[in-house]
Amino acid sequence: METITLPQPALTGDVSIEETLQQRRSIREYKDVPLSLQEVAQLAWAAQGISDEASGFRTAPSAGATFPTEVYLLITDVEDVADGVYRYNYDDHSLEKTIDGDRRRELYDVALRQPSITDAPVVMVITAVVARTEQRYGERALRYVYMEAGHVAQNVYLQGVALDIGTVVVGAFDDHGVADVLQLDDGEHPLYIMPLGKKNY
Ligand SMILES: Cc1cc2nc3c(=O)[nH]c(=O)nc-3n(C[C@H](O)[C@H](O)[C@H](O)COP(=O)(O)O)c2cc1C
Repeated sequence: METITLPQPALTGDVSIEETLQQRRSIREYKDVPLSLQEVAQLAWAAQGISDEASGFRTAPSAGATFPTEVYLLITDVEDVADGVYRYNYDDHSLEKTIDGDRRRELYDVALRQPSITDAPVVMVITAVVARTEQRYGERALRYVYMEAGHVAQNVYLQGVALDIGTVVVGAFDDHGVADVLQLDDGEHPLYIMPLGKKNY
């Protein structure tokens, strides 16, 4: 399957962290325009990008650096990118296609038919392999994994504000249904769906 090397993320910007916090809102309708690969790269990096090469640590904190979360992107309208489901490879900041085609409608069907999902040019899904954290923390792992998904999602919300890209965290969905749509391995669980698109003011 196809691999796309992403452009390097910007490490400076024009919007302050205070402004992103003030302006963050859940946005459920998007403009009918594509996102650029640079914007996709920035959002993926905000979610799970490596921010320290020496340690391999990332933009979101992780209990004991066990890094249970994975990031998928359902892409249907990104300049020069074929429709499909892609997994973000944090190691080399790339996208690896895992499934061909536009899968938004299938995702929508297993997520209470929330229109934000079919409206968005890109839909991020945050998943977790709980066993990675369980090996170290046993029964406490589950709460840590849920906390981590929150950290990842908030990074994406705030990065979105800085790029004029709206999103909403969708937690209401059928777990098995989403796992089937993404063809996840056993032991990998979907935690959040985040549709992403240019804000429709
Ligand atoms: C755990 C969680 C699950 C949520 N699930 C959904 C959802 O399934 N669909 C949706 O449209 N919004 C969902 N939301 C977004 C909330 O509705 C939203 O955050 C709330 O209305 C406050 O608005 P704000 O985010 O603009 O401050 C969820 C939020 C959280 C924290």
